[in-house]
Amino acid sequence: MSGRFTDPQDPLFQALNSSIRFDYRLAPYDLEQSRAHARMLARSGIISDEDLTELERGLDAVCEEIDADTFVVAEDDEDIHMAIERRLTEIAGPVGGKLHTARSRNDQVATDVAMLVRAHSLEAKELLQRLMATLISLAERHMDWRLPGYTHLQRAQPVYLSHHLLAYFWKFRRDLQRFNFCMTTTDDLPLGAGALAGVNFDTSRMFVAQELGFGGIAENSLDAVSNRDFVLDYLSAAATCATHLSQLGAEIVLWSTQEFGFCEVSDAFASGSSLMPQKKNPDAAELLRAKAPRVAAHLVALHGVLHGLPLTYNKDLQEDKEPLFDTVDTLELCLRVAAEMLEGVSFNREAMEAAASDEFIAATDVADLLVRRGVPFREAHGIVGGLVRAAVDRGKLLSELTEEELRELAPQLDGQFYELLDERAILESKVSDGGTAMARVRDQLAQARQVLREAGG
Ligand code: ARG
Repeated sequence: MSGRFTDPQDPLFQALNSSIRFDYRLAPYDLEQSRAHARMLARSGIISDEDLTELERGLDAVCEEIDADTFVVAEDDEDIHMAIERRLTEIAGPVGGKLHTARSRNDQVATDVAMLVRAHSLEAKELLQRLMATLISLAERHMDWRLPGYTHLQRAQPVYLSHHLLAYFWKFRRDLQRFNFCMTTTDDLPLGAGALAGVNFDTSRMFVAQELGFGGIAENSLDAVSNRDFVLDYLSAAATCATHLSQLGAEIVLWSTQEFGFCEVSDAFASGSSLMPQKKNPDAAELLRAKAPRVAAHLVALHGVLHGLPLTYNKDLQEDKEPLFDTVDTLELCLRVAAEMLEGVSFNREAMEAAASDEFIAATDVADLLVRRGVPFREAHGIVGGLVRAAVDRGKLLSELTEEELRELAPQLDGQFYELLDERAILESKVSDGGTAMARVRDQLAQARQVLREAGG
């Protein structure tokens, strides 16, 4: 009778089942976890102090092999957890087999993944802070450069470049808050839950939590081994962050066109065309634009894996790793590139000023002047619409309309109309909190610096 559990595994099945080719990168967390677990076992009298010494020595040796990239994966190492234990036992002897006392791969893997998510949430926070600092210094260097602000990609109202750049600062600040949230959802230690129901030993989970930097322990063993919410949280934060990077990238692509000519990326982040010598392509910005959907897709993929899963551990959960790892790599690379690319962007003041000097951009301000003279806004909107049409028909700018024409077209208007068309006045009148008037941008900049200081940047 062939045993149900002893049939040699089909290589095809192994190819599907094995996760070692990607979960290898959990090794540092797995080793750290195992050291803490072994210490707990000894403290709780579950293994002897001599056992602990042997285990620690063996784990150090495995760690050295992994660091030196000399660790050899055996054919039937299904995953990194089995590979490390196998190698530990080869090095330390049978005592290696004691390490898995009071532990299952189910609580072990959940713990490794939580540790990795924590470490990379921290990394994302640091990279975001660097990017936010870059935006602040760019804003400081371009305080009063004027450019059109857009809605529907149509020139709408002029703004200062500092104001435009700082808009991204606040988007990334929210991303920072989202990664902070990941720090809280990875704060409960899964280890100690065993396979699903707890373990047959009086372990000290709080000791392990403290050793590994977790704030507390997962209170329910069934939840502990089935929970991957923290991966969803990280992927979700990463997806939103990648979307912001994509918007930034897209804007740089647009601004780098000859049609806009607002900016130029440094050669280090651009390519030439092999055919057309005049071309400089903003490749890095294009790739920032293109990476976001891939990260969002990883989030959707994991929702797909998790939805409808009954408690507790199911092999499906192994599918959390590739989306997570690819997201970590993609996001961190994009954050690094975005900061460096921005540091080297040069803006073209003349091109921006020229685009912002389009007088028709002042139409809202003219309408508001009418409002101040007692005309209801809706009516004012109509009057200014007529004024703009008349000016266009007569081939004139707004400021070229004579006082006589003004009396004919909008009798409620007075000489202040001409002052208002002064380019600076349009920006400087946006004095509401969060507006583009220089005084408000300075307030905003002070706030941004404060936020960054408090974030530790
Ligand atoms: N490689 C597995 C994973 O990533 C580890 C846990 C395996 N547990 C089990 N009972 N087969 O999910």
